[in-house]
Amino acid sequence: MSQGSTPLPPGKENSASEKGATRPVNGSALSATPSIVVTQATHTDIPDICNLYKRVWDEFRGKFPEDLLKAWQPTPLEFTSWMEGVTYFSARRDRRLVGVLGGSLQDGSVRLVNLGVDPEARRSGIATLLVGASLEWARRANASSVWVEVLLPFEGAIHLFQKLGFTQSGVLHKHFWKEDVQLLEQVL
Ligand SMILES: CC(C)(COP(=O)(O)OP(=O)(O)OC[C@H]1O[C@@H](n2cnc3c(N)ncnc32)[C@H](O)[C@@H]1OP(=O)(O)O)[C@@H](O)C(=O)NCCC(=O)NCCS
Repeated sequence: MSQGSTPLPPGKENSASEKGATRPVNGSALSATPSIVVTQATHTDIPDICNLYKRVWDEFRGKFPEDLLKAWQPTPLEFTSWMEGVTYFSARRDRRLVGVLGGSLQDGSVRLVNLGVDPEARRSGIATLLVGASLEWARRANASSVWVEVLLPFEGAIHLFQKLGFTQSGVLHKHFWKEDVQLLEQVL
């Protein structure tokens, strides 16, 4: 299996106020709402990213197998190895890390992984921006499609991807720690 990552080009940052609207990177006053800035994650983001995944998956404690939650809450060392072959995008609002999404290019397609948004920052367009950045990155990498696996109970994530133009293309049974997952794809 070959994996690779393509950096965002110069001028790579995506930014927005609410609901995914584009605005200047420096957030200079298109409105008074705090800006959200999406960039390609680097190693300096790792501690914040690990803390974010802890906040995201702690809320599912008791609802999903402990093995699953543990696997999705990496230590900094574990996340360092996750970054190999995967390009991560991070979203910050007022410098606080509020969202993360990874993408790996394999066989001409991009697989999205490990999407998480801070429970206190949801429904303000952060995942929309992250997916948008990954789609742009996939297009620049000349990928022919982008796909993602979502646990069936995560209806919010399924709605999100459908709203962003992904279509449901199948179910994998007992795929993640005995949980079924929905496959969604967008052909570019
Ligand atoms: C799913 C998740 C990533 C969404 O992040 P978000 O930043 O709140 O999403 P956005 O604000 O960009 O939402 C865009 C659209 O997606 C849909 N959506 C997002 N969350 C939803 C929810 N809980 N229920 C229904 N629809 C939802 C809506 O259509 C929404 O548009 P609207 O707010 O105008 O109605 C976030 O809730 C999360 O981290 N959940 C826990 C972890 C998870 O499910 N990860 C995905 C694994 S693949």
